[in-house]
Amino acid sequence: MTDTLLMATDQIPQVALAFMNDDHHEAVELMNGLNEALQDGEDEQIDELLASFLDHNRSHFGREEQHMRDYGFPAYPVHKGEHERVLAEMDQMANYWLTRRDRGHLQRYLTETVLPWFNNHLATMDTMTAMFVARQMG
Ligand SMILES: [Fe+2]
Ligand SMILES: [Fe+2]
Repeated sequence: MTDTLLMATDQIPQVALAFMNDDHHEAVELMNGLNEALQDGEDEQIDELLASFLDHNRSHFGREEQHMRDYGFPAYPVHKGEHERVLAEMDQMANYWLTRRDRGHLQRYLTETVLPWFNNHLATMDTMTAMFVARQMG
């Protein structure tokens, strides 16, 4: 096994809500696992990790959306819209992987699209959402 990490879990920027930090930690672990499996794992491992990552994202995004609704976050439609766009794109990429078994394609998607998106999303929408919700919670 290689020890190539996409991102170290101790380098994840922290937001103002613990449950979101936990979700981001889990997301990074799943991305690292998928990255490693793409390099030296079996196809079945990649299938499982990809399915776990998609499931994780649905729950992760769903928890953020629930908090945005509960606390009246004004930019809810924008943040939710971004989650939906990414989930649809990930579904499409997963289907492509399942039919073509093209590791390079999935690897590039993970490193060149998902990872930069994750970092940018965390630094912008997630950070603002957490700050707003934490303040409302008092
Ligand atoms: Fe998030
Ligand atoms: Fe988010």
